[in-house]
Amino acid sequence: MTDRVEAYIDANQNRFVEELMQFMRIPSVSAQQQHDGDTRACAQWIADHLKGLGFEAGLIDIGGKPIVRAAMKGKSAKRVLIYGHYDVQPEDPVDQWKTPPFEPTIRDGILYGRGSTDDKGQVFTHVKAVEALLKTEGKLPCGVVFLLEGEEESGGDALARYVSQAKDELKPNAVVISDSTMYDANTPAITYGLRGIIALEFTIRGPAMDVHSGAYGGGVANPAMVLAQMLAACVSRDGKVLIPHFYDDVVPLQDWERESFRKLNFDDQALAKELTVPHLHGEPGYSTLERLWARPTFEINGIFGGYQGQRSKTIIPAFATAKVTCRLVSNQDPARTRDLVIEHIRSVCPDTVRLEINEFGASPPVLFDVNNPMIRAAQDALRKGFGHETVFIRSGGSIPVVSTFVEQFGCPVVLMGFGLDSDGPHSPNEHFSLDSFRRGAKAAAHLLRAI
Ligand code: BES
Ligand code: MN
Ligand code: MN
Repeated sequence: MTDRVEAYIDANQNRFVEELMQFMRIPSVSAQQQHDGDTRACAQWIADHLKGLGFEAGLIDIGGKPIVRAAMKGKSAKRVLIYGHYDVQPEDPVDQWKTPPFEPTIRDGILYGRGSTDDKGQVFTHVKAVEALLKTEGKLPCGVVFLLEGEEESGGDALARYVSQAKDELKPNAVVISDSTMYDANTPAITYGLRGIIALEFTIRGPAMDVHSGAYGGGVANPAMVLAQMLAACVSRDGKVLIPHFYDDVVPLQDWERESFRKLNFDDQALAKELTVPHLHGEPGYSTLERLWARPTFEINGIFGGYQGQRSKTIIPAFATAKVTCRLVSNQDPARTRDLVIEHIRSVCPDTVRLEINEFGASPPVLFDVNNPMIRAAQDALRKGFGHETVFIRSGGSIPVVSTFVEQFGCPVVLMGFGLDSDGPHSPNEHFSLDSFRRGAKAAAHLLRAI
């Protein structure tokens, strides 16, 4: 017998995709002030859409971008909180998009556009799962509250503040999140660990203005060179972080994890090819999955200063800046790690320049116990939706509010992502497989029924 809910999802897929495309046309770029109006309009659009399905929905304004809260009327014994984010990353570099970032386009069963996989398309699987349950069964099998934030991509803390303040009223039995990845296009996965993050910016200031490098070169420190040398003192050439005590609190991988990562048979060469690099690189002594999922890093996200124009210009730059992030793993504490990084940076900075440090938010890593009934229900739901066995993975990315959920609710958190790293989240030509969209909606519906 075909499942009525699955049949509804199949029969309405085209309309679902049309609606998702409307959602994606609103450029809700949270990092850029010029898009504040769009971001609010996007929140309103999804709130209205949920109202149309019978939810009590509205925007919560507590400073920062609006939070969408939508709850199904009526009482139920069990309540699930579905989290996602409606904000997206900036679209740049815009000339590298084959079709415009905010004009969603389908090519070969794949939906292209900013937010397709991160996170509008994944959020929409749950919205459509709920619709399918309501339209076929007349009501939801459990209580459902959507909580969608608009500043996940830009380091805002509105949702964390709201959750702390409204925890008693929200108090779910489980949190369900689709903002991560499957293992591969046919292997659904539950993510049981996310890395944390700290973000810093270092500026080295030398002469008050750019000065002639012939007149002064050799007599004064070059800020760009000083910065390069300081950064080089943070990581060894083979990829080990050199900051004292950086690894002190890292929980080593357990044997079962090493074994389960190994069984995934990760293809290093395929990744090198996908990224068009000659070889992969990273901390010696760990496999690629171990390095991506369970080891901390120190990365330069941007570095600038001095002349960036055509031909050459003979100056000593007045300043140089580097934007840096560290990915953290359990049990590294963001505040302590930040202090270690800053202390090291100060210790390798010569007294011939001035050092300025900016901080941009931090979030702790999370690691879940997979032995609970919610996780087993999700494993089952994914198998039904995708027709393949579910695997357990960790992820290198970060979803800052997850640690707040753990702290405030103490309930199971299920990360069941439908994206792929190769979908190009944050990149030009971001995309999402419509097949994953459809199968994800089915899995989401199966999970709600199992609760
Ligand atoms: N959805 C991602 C995080 C993610 C990616 C989780 C892949 C699992 C697998 C999220 O939108 C994201 O990009 N987070 C940022 C957080 C940062 C801006 C604080 C990240 O990880 O860089
Ligand atoms: Mn995301
Ligand atoms: Mn993202």
